[in-house]
Amino acid sequence: MAKPKIAVVGAGLIGLSTAVCISDAISNCSVTVVADRFTPNTTSDVAAGMLIPHACPDTPVHRQKQWFRETFDHLSGICNSSEASEAGIHLVSGWQIFKTIPDEKAPFWSDVVLGFRSMTEKELKKFPHHKYGQAFTTLKCNCPPYLIWLEKRLKENGGQVHSRHLEDLWELHNDYDIIVNCSGIGSRKLVGDLEIYPTRGQVLKVHAPWVTHFIRDGDGLTYIYPGMHNVTLGGTRQKDIWTLSPDPKTSKNIFGRCCVLEPSLRTARDITVRVGLRPSRSSVRLQKEILVRGNEKLLVVHHYGHGGGGFSVHQGTAREATQLVKECIGALEMSRNRAKL
Ligand SMILES: Cc1cc2nc3c(=O)[nH]c(=O)nc-3n(C[C@H](O)[C@H](O)[C@H](O)COP(=O)(O)OP(=O)(O)OC[C@H]3O[C@@H](n4cnc5c(N)ncnc54)[C@H](O)[C@@H]3O)c2cc1C
Ligand SMILES: *[C@@H]1O[C@H](CO)[C@@H](O)[C@H](O)[C@H]1NC(C)=O
Ligand SMILES: *[C@@H]1O[C@H](CO)[C@@H](O)[C@H](O)[C@H]1NC(C)=O
Ligand SMILES: *[C@@H]1O[C@H](CO)[C@@H](O)[C@H](O)[C@H]1NC(C)=O
Ligand SMILES: *[C@@H]1O[C@H](CO)[C@@H](O)[C@H](O)[C@H]1NC(C)=O
Ligand SMILES: *[C@@H]1O[C@H](CO)[C@@H](O)[C@H](O)[C@H]1NC(C)=O
Repeated sequence: MAKPKIAVVGAGLIGLSTAVCISDAISNCSVTVVADRFTPNTTSDVAAGMLIPHACPDTPVHRQKQWFRETFDHLSGICNSSEASEAGIHLVSGWQIFKTIPDEKAPFWSDVVLGFRSMTEKELKKFPHHKYGQAFTTLKCNCPPYLIWLEKRLKENGGQVHSRHLEDLWELHNDYDIIVNCSGIGSRKLVGDLEIYPTRGQVLKVHAPWVTHFIRDGDGLTYIYPGMHNVTLGGTRQKDIWTLSPDPKTSKNIFGRCCVLEPSLRTARDITVRVGLRPSRSSVRLQKEILVRGNEKLLVVHHYGHGGGGFSVHQGTAREATQLVKECIGALEMSRNRAKL
C-alpha cells in the first residue's frame, strides 16, 4: 500500500511532539506539520514549561497520572543524555507553599516527581506568610529550545514543516490521508469547538541567575520558575480574555507578588513581558472523527485542549494520539483493499 500521508496541524508543543511521536512509532508514513505560527510565536513559547500537573476534573485521575508519569520518564531520559542542553530540559528543585494547610497533603503526582516531602520548619522560615509547604524536584522544559529540538528530530525522521493558515480542514483533503488536529486555541474557530476557551496568562521573563530554586504559591497564581536563560515570574489566569497585548498594571502586580516571595528579585534586570492564551477545556480532546462531505471522507484525530498543563502531560497524550492514528491507518488499509476487490 502507498505510504499514508499524515498532516499534523499545529507547531506548538502538542503538534510538534505528536508529529515526532508518530514518525518514531509508525515507520512507513509521511508526516507534515502545517501551521501559521512557529517558535518563538506560539502559546507554548510563553509558558514556563514546568512539569507540575494541573488537576483536570473531567479526566480520571489515574489517566492524568499516567500521562504525567510517561512525560516525566520520557523527559528524564532526555535530561540524562548528551541531548539535555540542546533540548532545553533540566531538573529544578524548589518549594510549593500554602497560606492555609491544604486538604490533600500529597497530590496525585507526588510519587512521580523526585523527593517529594513536607518542608521543614527551618525551610518555612523563608516564607513568613505561609503555614505549610512541599519540597520536591521536577523537570522544566525551556521553550523555544525544546520546540527547535523537536522540529529537528522530526526532520531527521523525514518529516516536513509547512507554514500555512487554514480556514478549513478540508483544504488538506487532496494532499493527505489523515489529519491530526493540534491547533490549540485555534480549534475554537477551526473546529468550531465551543467547549474550548482561552485562559489568558501574562508572565515576566527576567534576568536573575542567582535564583535557582522554584517557588510556587499553592493557589498556582504566583510563581517563580528559574530556567536555563532567565526566570519566569507569574502570573494571571483570566478566563475568556483574548487580548495578547501586555497590561503594564498587571506586570507591576506580578512583580510585586513575586518580590514578596523572593525579595532579591528587586534587583532583577532585563524584564520582558509575554502573554499567552491557554487552550482550556474541561478535558483534553483525544478523539477520532470521520468527516463526511458528499461522498468524500476525511479521517481526523483531534488532540488539543491542554489548558495550563500541556508541558506536564504532552508525551502521554501524544502517545494516545499516535495510537488513534494507527487505528486510522488500519481503517484506511481496509477501505483501500475493499476498493481493489
Ligand atoms: C503564561 C503561561 C504559562 C504556562 N506555564 C505552563 C507550565 O509551567 N507548565 C505546563 O505544563 N504548561 C504551562 N502552560 C500551558 C501550555 O503553554 C499549553 O498547555 C501548551 O503550550 C499548549 O500547546 P499547543 O501546542 O496546544 O498550543 P500552541 O502552542 O498555541 O500551538 C498551536 C499551534 O496551532 C497552530 N494553529 C492554530 N490555528 C491554526 C490555523 N487556523 N491554521 C494553521 N495553524 C493553526 C498555531 O499556529 C500553532 O502552531 C502555560 C501557558 C501560559 C499561557
Ligand atoms: C510498511 O512497510 C512494510 C515493509 O515494506 C510492509 O510490509 C507494510 O505493509 C507497510 N505498512 C504500511 C502501513 O504501508
Ligand atoms: C514571529 O513573529 C514576528 C512578528 O510578527 C515575525 O517577524 C517573525 O518572522 C515570526 N517568526 C516566525 C519564525 O514565524
Ligand atoms: C542515565 O543514563 C545512564 C547511561 O546512559 C544509565 O546507566 C542510567 O541508568 C540513567 N539514569 C537514569 C536515572 O535514568
Ligand atoms: C479540526 O477539526 C474540525 C472538525 O471537527 C474541523 O472543522 C477543523 O477545520 C479542524 N481544524 C484543523 C486545523 O484541521
Ligand atoms: C530569556 O531567554 C530567551 C531564550 O530562551 C531569550 O530569547 C530572552 O531574550 C531572554 N530574556 C531575558 C530577559 O533574559
